[in-house]
Amino acid sequence: MACKTTDVAKACNVFIDFKERGSLRKELCVSNPKSFIPQFPLLVNSLGPVVLEEYRKRIRTDAVLKRLNYRGCMVLFRLTSIDPAEYVRAIQEIEMLSTKVNVGDKKTSKARHSFSDVWRENSVFRELIMSSENQEETKWKLEGEYGYRLATNFMPMYAKSIFEYFDAKNVLDPCAGWGDRMAGALSSRCVRRYVGFDPNKNLMNGYKHILRDFGSGVRNENKNMIEFDNGYVIYNMLFEDGDFLLSGSIFDFAFTSPPFFDFEDYGEYMPKYTDWIDEFYKPLFELTHKYLKIGGVFAVYVKDTISGRIEDFVVEKVPKFTSFVVRGRIGFIGGCSKRKRTIYVLKRTL
Ligand SMILES: C[S@@+](CC[C@H](N)C(=O)[O-])C[C@H]1O[C@@H](n2cnc3c(N)ncnc32)[C@H](O)[C@@H]1O
Repeated sequence: MACKTTDVAKACNVFIDFKERGSLRKELCVSNPKSFIPQFPLLVNSLGPVVLEEYRKRIRTDAVLKRLNYRGCMVLFRLTSIDPAEYVRAIQEIEMLSTKVNVGDKKTSKARHSFSDVWRENSVFRELIMSSENQEETKWKLEGEYGYRLATNFMPMYAKSIFEYFDAKNVLDPCAGWGDRMAGALSSRCVRRYVGFDPNKNLMNGYKHILRDFGSGVRNENKNMIEFDNGYVIYNMLFEDGDFLLSGSIFDFAFTSPPFFDFEDYGEYMPKYTDWIDEFYKPLFELTHKYLKIGGVFAVYVKDTISGRIEDFVVEKVPKFTSFVVRGRIGFIGGCSKRKRTIYVLKRTL
């Protein structure tokens, strides 16, 4: 069934009727309308600490199948199970559920809703989720019908496999995101140092949680930086603003999944660019190139979406303003969709 606006309107009516039923309720609603909205069921609670810990360990140990030279890819990875990816999802879930993913068609400027928006606005939707047997599965099932899309994560088991495939030791992640690549780095046999950037303040506690689970505490912290005992560092800022912080650093591997223009909207910490290519993508490739050693590899997951086309830029334009050459692509099979996705592998040559 299509949208959404009617559902939201219906839900609003329910809310208004409700308010008018009694003055006490009316007062409560007016002074604190949110008090009637329950917290959505969180994965962290439904999984529980024991399963979460089991998943964390499985990021390191689960088999990831590897096929070399598969249909235009230097290597194709396939997971035997996607469950362990829930580890990072559970830790960062509130942020992921609040992310608006562009489900609309730009031409009709369909409104974008996050799961949390629909949860807040639509009591029928809340009822459906709460009364379902498998609330997690229902969150995914109702995406289309209720006009939201859940943000996906970059599965940490793939990140681990990719780090190990390239024997990465000193890693730069310009857009650290939910922390999947960091969890993959922590689980890998090879990564010794990981430096990540992300402007979203709300992700910082999740990073600390992940590091704590892997046995590292905070060594140093200020409003823009967290340094951990194991030498991992996260800068809470835009990557393009971090040039001065990296001065003197040199990485052998860079790996990221940058925003696909404004395909996902991370709320108050979403950067506002008037020109994504000039203000974001160009500095992203220039700076990554600058801090990679010659011969170092930049693995970058980009995808053309309804928000903009970026793959041609990477393949055709980036080699013109840097010494990066496209060495090929890594394939990996998506979680539930089972579609093959690819990561570009760029090598710094000069
Ligand atoms: C969640 S990841 C993955 C995005 C995914 N590829 C997509 O668009 O569907 C993107 C992360 O990049 C971060 N980000 C956005 N702009 C950034 C910038 N200029 N520098 C560093 N990180 C940035 C966001 O806060 C977000 O956590």
